[in-house]
Amino acid sequence: IKHLLTIEALHDNEVMGLIKRAQEFKHGAAIPDHLKDYYAANLFFENSTRTHKSFEMAEHKLGIKVIDFDTKTSSVSKGESLYDTVLTMSAIGVDVCVIRHWEENYYHQLIQSKTIRSSIINGGDGSGQHPTQCLLDLMTIYEEFGHFEGLKVAIAGDLSHSRVAKSNMQMLNRLGAELYFSGPKEWYEDQFDVYGEYKEIDELVELVDVIMLLRVQHERHESGESFSKEEYHQAYGLTVERAKQLKPETIIMHPAPVNRDVELADELVESYQSRIVSQMSNGVFMRMAILEAILEGKAKG
Ligand code: CP
Repeated sequence: IKHLLTIEALHDNEVMGLIKRAQEFKHGAAIPDHLKDYYAANLFFENSTRTHKSFEMAEHKLGIKVIDFDTKTSSVSKGESLYDTVLTMSAIGVDVCVIRHWEENYYHQLIQSKTIRSSIINGGDGSGQHPTQCLLDLMTIYEEFGHFEGLKVAIAGDLSHSRVAKSNMQMLNRLGAELYFSGPKEWYEDQFDVYGEYKEIDELVELVDVIMLLRVQHERHESGESFSKEEYHQAYGLTVERAKQLKPETIIMHPAPVNRDVELADELVESYQSRIVSQMSNGVFMRMAILEAILEGKAKG
């Protein structure tokens, strides 16, 4: 793998290879010695806690040298473009740039450049894709069930604004899961019909093996589009009452940050059926596997 930009660009065997490798790291596999010769920079043009810090943790665990970068103190604050920023990183010897940016498909110009040599890992592009979140979600589901074929998975909430929903629906569908969508109809788009079926959340809770809630992304909404927190929670959220209808083996997921008591009841966040903390921990091991695959791909040319 030279870059990781979209989930669909990965073959099934590459997805399964990354899951297996992340599990090996989780269970204490030795860190390959050669990775300490590489440099990474994490370029976050949109705020992040989990993706940014778990990449940083993964880089440290692998012994990769991390070049500190902050949009506020870099020449981005003087108007330097993303292209020129990445060109600079490449010129100074950064092997891999992890980038989060508000613009969908921001990476096209970067990967077409004949000068930029750094690999690019997409840490989220606007409402486009979030492939590393998808991979850590797949790892978490695989750890629980050991397969994807035939699993009933609900993705519920702010679908149209969610890059997590888009990456997950594409890959879960390809791996044989049966997908359902839920949430406000105004956030449901025709593109979701290709991957699954819309149902009200009350129908879904009894049916599914995995219920994945999505954050209401207030920052991406037009003004006047929002619900009150309580209205949203009662109409579309996983309330304590609804959670009583889940099968005991069903798991609750959320990419986080969670709006507690909006899409998910506060007391369910760390409940026995929740895998939200595992998702965050798995993010480190999955990002170790991704970085290793990218850097070994570079070494092979
Ligand atoms: N899940 C996720 O992408 O979280 P952050 O925005 O904190 O990185």
